[in-house]
Amino acid sequence: NWTMEAFRDKEVERIRKLVGPKGQVIGAVSGGVDSTVAAKLMHEAIGDRFHAVMVDNGVLRKDEAKQVKQTLTKNLGVNLTVVDASERFLSLLKGVEDPEKKRKIIGNTFIEIFEEEAKKIAKEAENTPRAGNIEYFLQGTLYPDVIESISFKGPSATIKTHHNVGGLPEKMNLKLIEPLRELFKDEVRAIGTELGIAEELVWRHPFPGPGLAIRIIGEVTPEKVRIVQEADAIFMEELKAGKTKDGTSLYRDISQAFAALFVDKAVGVVGDQRLHGYVIALRAVKTTDFMTAKAYWFDEEFASRVSDRIGNEVQGVARVVYEWTSKPPATIELE
Ligand code: XMP
Repeated sequence: NWTMEAFRDKEVERIRKLVGPKGQVIGAVSGGVDSTVAAKLMHEAIGDRFHAVMVDNGVLRKDEAKQVKQTLTKNLGVNLTVVDASERFLSLLKGVEDPEKKRKIIGNTFIEIFEEEAKKIAKEAENTPRAGNIEYFLQGTLYPDVIESISFKGPSATIKTHHNVGGLPEKMNLKLIEPLRELFKDEVRAIGTELGIAEELVWRHPFPGPGLAIRIIGEVTPEKVRIVQEADAIFMEELKAGKTKDGTSLYRDISQAFAALFVDKAVGVVGDQRLHGYVIALRAVKTTDFMTAKAYWFDEEFASRVSDRIGNEVQGVARVVYEWTSKPPATIELE
């Protein structure tokens, strides 16, 4: 597609000019389409003078950190550091039940860790021959975010502070670089495809910054995280394999889907034993703007296959329920 190619060339040129022949840039990546496309553009423009950092906060989807590493390093050639901070996050989350407290802990700890890492990278960068200091901070802001932060101070103003590493650039005296700020989501996807990013990643459902912590009602424990990760992986596998009547994958037809965990245990049965186990809630919605959303309807065969698989394959699950609530009155996430 000519337009996308033109955008890419123009943007790569603009980044090169802005950063200069020696400048270095740092940025956080999450495995989502926006940060991946932004990182790939930076890499095309300045190669290893762009440093990507991924923080594993222990509440990511199953194998997520591994997959991000594979995609960015092996497939896209981006210079990436993965920080495994899962134990640090999980120990801070221990005993915390309030959703806003969980969000704060995750947001603040993320910034702390990113800052520590950025300082290390900056120190190493100083000693790189033929390269200058880190002057820029990459942010994957899209056009709707730009508009929203100017004109709208609603609930998503808080969402955005989690998306972005709020406050860090000023604190570290870095200038912002935002290669996607003129683009809408569908354009980011088109450029992602143009840049050779895998279809699966380009069409990935959004995933919140606080991760599985807001899909586990109440206290987050390593056991609950494992159960949600495993149930979610089964649900995603089936959604990708399942088809609508016109042949689209269910995953593509849905805007956002996930498995979550209700806090109360319920009784179930395994063999001839009663099991006091967890209740998995499946959620799938269709929406255009994520401000309102409708619960998705599955056919009986699909619903019972997913529910049977989760019940049989994920140890500790006594029940699987489906969330029929639309937004409003519910939100998309559970907390
Ligand atoms: P809700 O649950 O508010 O979600 O209906 C709307 C969209 O925003 C995402 N979301 C978040 N994203 N940090 C994020 O980065 C957050 O704290 C957060 N809360 C919700 C949610 O996944 C959905 O796409």
